[in-house]
Amino acid sequence: MNRVTFTIDGKEVKAIRGQTILKAADAAGVFIPRLCAYRDLTPNGSCRVCSVRVNGRIQAACVQTVAEGAIVENETPELLEYRRNIVDMLFVEGNHFCMFCEKSGFCELQALAYRFGIKAPRYPFLYPKRDLDMSHPHVFLDHNRCILCGRCVRASQDMDGKNVFQFVERGGRKRLQVNGDSLSETDLKATDEAVSVCPVGALMKKRVGYEVPVGRRRYDEKPIGDDIEMKGEK
Ligand code: SF4
Ligand code: FES
Repeated sequence: MNRVTFTIDGKEVKAIRGQTILKAADAAGVFIPRLCAYRDLTPNGSCRVCSVRVNGRIQAACVQTVAEGAIVENETPELLEYRRNIVDMLFVEGNHFCMFCEKSGFCELQALAYRFGIKAPRYPFLYPKRDLDMSHPHVFLDHNRCILCGRCVRASQDMDGKNVFQFVERGGRKRLQVNGDSLSETDLKATDEAVSVCPVGALMKKRVGYEVPVGRRRYDEKPIGDDIEMKGEK
């Protein structure tokens, strides 16, 4: 009784009771796009990129648990457009200049844009003025590229046992803040999980950004989600 069976786009999937739709889909080789969800970090359901329809209702697959007999829609034109719109908005509300970013080719936002066929944003750029914190000897934080996914906040607390990051304010004023006047005043280490989980080029180690040449990086070679979909083909 610990197993449930449901369908994703008509494909029968067996899952563990209590598992999220995202995890069950991953295990079944079905890729559901995501940005704020990351491996075993507790999901917070904030980005909505993983939106699917469950029995007709839009739900975030990273927080919604599986239910016996549920009918999940993932790859529909409506949902692809919905997700594409979110990614489009993330691009214009920050300052993402992929050609100058060390994360290019490893960036999940960029990789999703490629997967969704986004060649140019459809909304006007907002060009917000945001800070760059270079104070730490080994890590930088560029708020221009932060998409407020919260991965670093959760990883710092749950995996590193620290509390380096937090969100302040709400709505359009929401931003990431460090536990001190600057990164150098925190107990962040370059080896912390919080540094490695950032999906974009906002939180990165210094001096290693170009160790892998552009053009030979993860998403230069394979689309995002390819590793998950390969499992479904076996
Ligand atoms: Fe997410 Fe990176 Fe911003 Fe942290 S710094 S909230 S991991 S985008
Ligand atoms: Fe599910 Fe962000 S990945 S809401």
